[in-house]
Amino acid sequence: MYDIELNPSEFKLFRTYIYERVGISLSEQKSMLIKGRLNRRLHELKLQSFRDYYDYLVNDLSGEELLFFVSAISTNVTSFFREEAQWRWLQEHLPELISTKRDKKIRIWSAGCSSGEEPYTILMFLQNHLPDFESWDIKILATDISSKVLTHAVAGCYELKQIEQLPKNIVVQSFEKIKNNDEIKYQIKPFLRDKVTFRLYNLVTDEFFFKNKFDMIFCRNVMIYFDDETRHQLIGRFAQLLSKGSPLFLGSSESLTTHKETLKLSGSSIYKKL
Ligand SMILES: C[S@@+](CC[C@H](N)C(=O)[O-])C[C@H]1O[C@@H](n2cnc3c(N)ncnc32)[C@H](O)[C@@H]1O
Repeated sequence: MYDIELNPSEFKLFRTYIYERVGISLSEQKSMLIKGRLNRRLHELKLQSFRDYYDYLVNDLSGEELLFFVSAISTNVTSFFREEAQWRWLQEHLPELISTKRDKKIRIWSAGCSSGEEPYTILMFLQNHLPDFESWDIKILATDISSKVLTHAVAGCYELKQIEQLPKNIVVQSFEKIKNNDEIKYQIKPFLRDKVTFRLYNLVTDEFFFKNKFDMIFCRNVMIYFDDETRHQLIGRFAQLLSKGSPLFLGSSESLTTHKETLKLSGSSIYKKL
């Protein structure tokens, strides 16, 4: 057991730095979390204090340590078909959402996609509910701040326990069984993986480079770490990037208190661009 103390002035240094670099707002209560989760890291790096670790973090120009820090204090928890009510909403509203799509192009952004379950679920859903699925030009942009989860997402390999709750027909349609170093894994089939582009992207500090509008944006269980101002700015940008009538999906514990003139509540944490 390691036990290096994190004093209040050191905590403030981390709090300011993380807010500026990532937009994550650390409350005082997070001091224990940082101490607990980062102690082992200090030992690995042979550092004597959190002040030394702070210097190490800010001087790491590769940005890798920042990603390590963010991963340590946040959660990447996700699953296939998370937030069931939203998939029911989408099933009901899909005919209306696609009714004007004469070019048969669908563009979706999964912002904060973690290890890929969310973008792959979108494809599994569309495969089963979009008439004539093969004839559509579907592209999903899936982004996250963590390179570790993205590596997992690109491979699209999951364990049995992650997929055993899925309906059998979806498993057969979307996964193939592969042997990986004596381990059995279930990999998303290439024709689905090909429709997703995974990118490392920080929602708070990276520029919005997008040329085209999106038909859906999913940003679920990501903004929980952000403060009101950061959330406000991000939602404003999402609203600009959505085409008229298109939905923004948030996590079920998240709701909008601003941008009511452009985003109207339409379902469980689902907002439609007016
Ligand atoms: C709890 S997971 C949610 C995954 C998925 N959206 C879902 O609801 O199942 C939150 C993800 O947001 C990512 N994240 C946190 N801050 C971020 C930021 N500033 N920019 C991009 N991604 C971020 C984390 O790395 C993590 O993978």
